[in-house]
Amino acid sequence: MFPLNIRTLAAAGALVLSVSVFAMGGRPKDNEEAVNSRIAPVARVELAAPSAGAAAGDRSGEQMYKTTCIACHEAGVANAPKFGDKAAWAPRLALGLDGLLKSAIAGKNAMPPRAGSDANDTELARAIVYMANKAGANFKEPAAK
Ligand code: HEC
Repeated sequence: MFPLNIRTLAAAGALVLSVSVFAMGGRPKDNEEAVNSRIAPVARVELAAPSAGAAAGDRSGEQMYKTTCIACHEAGVANAPKFGDKAAWAPRLALGLDGLLKSAIAGKNAMPPRAGSDANDTELARAIVYMANKAGANFKEPAAK
C-alpha cells in the first residue's frame, strides 16, 4: 500500500500541472478557460501543501542561488566573487562556513544584509555551501532548522 500523504499528492499534482501546461501550448485561446478549470484543483493541492524544499524558509542552496545570489554572483557585480571562480573564492573560503555566513547575514560592502532577501540563516548557509562547493570548498550542507 502506498503512503498517500499530502506530499505525494503535491508531487503528483506538480507533474500533472506541468504536463497540462505543456499540453496547453498551441491550443486556441478559447480553450484556455477550460484548461484553467481542469488544472485548478491540481493547483490548489499544490498551494496547500509545501512541496519538498520549495517553500520559503526551507529553500535549497540551489534555489536560493538561482532566485537571489545569481543577480550578483553570476557576473561578479560590484566585485562579488563569481560563481565557480576558485581564485576569487579561495581567500574567502578560509573564513569557513561560519565566517561566510556572518558576512551574508550582516552584509558586506555592496552586498546588503541577507543579500536583500527574506532568507533565514539555514537558507543562506545552504546558498553559501552551494556556491562555495562549486568553487573548490567541501562544506557540509546544514540540516534543516
Ligand atoms: C546585490 C549583489 C549581491 C547579491 C544579490 C548577493 N551577493 Fe554575495 N556578495 C556581493 C559582493 C559585492 C560581495 C563581495 C563583498 C566584498 O568582499 O567586498 C559578496 C560576497 C559574498 C560572500 C563572501 C563574503 C566574505 O566574507 O568574503 C558570500 C559568502 C556571499 N556573498 C554570499 C551570498 C549569498 C549566499 C547570496 C544569495 C543569498 C548573495 N551573496 C547574493 C554581492 C551580492
